[in-house]
Amino acid sequence: MIEVLFMELKEDRYELQGIPVTELAEKYGLPLYVYDTAIIERQYHKLVSAFSVKNLTINYACKALSNISILRFLRSLGAHADTVSLGEIHLCLKAGFKPEEIVFTPSAVSIEEYKMAMDIGVGINIDNLETLGYFADHKINYPICVRINPHIMAGGNKKISTGHIDSKFGISIHQLDAILELMDSAGLNIEGVHMHTGSDILDVEVFLQATDILFKAAAHFPDLNYIDFGSGFKVKYKPEDVETDIALFGREMSRKFNDFCAKRGKDLTLMFEPGKFIVSESGTFLAKTNIIKHSPSNLFAGLDTGFNHLIRPMFYEAYHEIVNISNPNGDKKYYSVVGYICETDNFAWNRPIPEIRVDDIIAFKNAGAYCFQMSSNYNSRVRPAEVMIYKGKDYLIREREDLTDILRHQTDPVHFS
Ligand code: LLP
Repeated sequence: MIEVLFMELKEDRYELQGIPVTELAEKYGLPLYVYDTAIIERQYHKLVSAFSVKNLTINYACKALSNISILRFLRSLGAHADTVSLGEIHLCLKAGFKPEEIVFTPSAVSIEEYKMAMDIGVGINIDNLETLGYFADHKINYPICVRINPHIMAGGNKKISTGHIDSKFGISIHQLDAILELMDSAGLNIEGVHMHTGSDILDVEVFLQATDILFKAAAHFPDLNYIDFGSGFKVKYKPEDVETDIALFGREMSRKFNDFCAKRGKDLTLMFEPGKFIVSESGTFLAKTNIIKHSPSNLFAGLDTGFNHLIRPMFYEAYHEIVNISNPNGDKKYYSVVGYICETDNFAWNRPIPEIRVDDIIAFKNAGAYCFQMSSNYNSRVRPAEVMIYKGKDYLIREREDLTDILRHQTDPVHFS
C-alpha cells in the first residue's frame, strides 16, 4: 500500500496531495474545511484488509461527514452506508447508494419514521422493545436488525459511550428473553443483531469482550444473515496517541466470526459501521488569525472561527493538533487559541505553536469527523465552505454560506408599528 500522509510539511510549506495549503486558502477563502480522499481510501483499505472472512460489509457512518461528494467517494470504494435519520437516508440515495446498501440505525424515533424508512426499502435497526412490540402487534414482517446493549463501558468519554447500563441505546442484554419471546410469538423477521458501544474505544480487549456477549446473544436467533459490531475505532488525535490496533482486532475478530459461522453452518456477513476511523484524519480545518492579544496570564491567538465551526474541543475537551501554516518553522510560543464566539471557545490552552501573527493561517488536524457536521449558525455566523482533494486536484464540494442562509427560513410575519 502507498503510504499516504497527513498534511505534509515540505521544507517551509504545508501541502495536501502536493497542493500548497496557502493556495487553497487563497482560492476558497477562510475558514475552510478540506478533505483528502487519499486518506479516506487508505483508512478504508486498512480496515477492510484487517479481516479475513467470507462476507464483510463496511457501512460508513455518514453522521461523521455527510457531504454527498464524500458519500459518493466512499461508495466508489465499496462501502455501504449507516444512517440515523431520513435526512441521511436521502443524502445517501442522492449520492447513489441503493436502498439495500443503506442501514437505518436511529435512536428514539417515531414509528412513522421507521415506516418511511421501510417504504424506501433500507435496512432497519430497532433499539427498543416498545418498537419491536409494535412490529409484533401489527404483524410487520419486514426484515429487521435488533440493537443489543451489552453493558460494557467503552468509549473515549461519557458523552460518546453508548454501551453502559445507563445509556439510552439498544435493548439491554438482560432483556434478551423478551426479544426472543416477541420473535417467537409474532414471527418477527430478525435477520441481524447489532451493537455499538461508543466512539474512541482504545482497548481492543474491551471491544472483544463486548463482541463475545453479542455472539452469545446471536446464537439464539435462527434466521440471522449478519452480525453488526458497530464501531468506535479510535484514531490518533495527538502525535503520541495510539490508534486502535486494527490488524490485531481484525485477526481476533475474524477468528471468532469464522468459528461462529462454522458452528452455525452458514456464512453470515460481518458488518461494521465506522465513521471517525474512515474520515477523521482526512480533514483539515483552516482559519485566519484575527488578533494576537496579550493578557497578564495568557497569549491569545484569536481566530475568525469558533465553536460554531468546530465544537469538539469545547464539547468533549477533544484535542486537535494545531499548526501554523504561515510560519511552520517559527520559534514556538505558548498560545491559548480561541474563537470569536461570545462564550469561552478555546480550541487550546497554552499550546506551544510556532509564532502566530495576525493574518496567519492556522490549521486544525483530524477535522474530518464530526467537525463540519456538528457546525452551526450560532452568533449568526455562516458555515464555512468544504473542499475535496481527489487525485491531486481540489474541488469545491460546498459553498460558503452567506446572510441569505441565515435568513432563509425566517418568515417575519408581523411588522410592528
Ligand atoms: N454506529 C452508531 C450506532 C453510532 O452511534 C456511531 C457514532 C457510529 C456507528 C460511528 O462511530 P465512530 O466510528 O465515528 O466512532 N461526535 C462524537 C462522536 C459521536 C459518535 C456518535 N455515534 C465525536 O466527535 O467524537
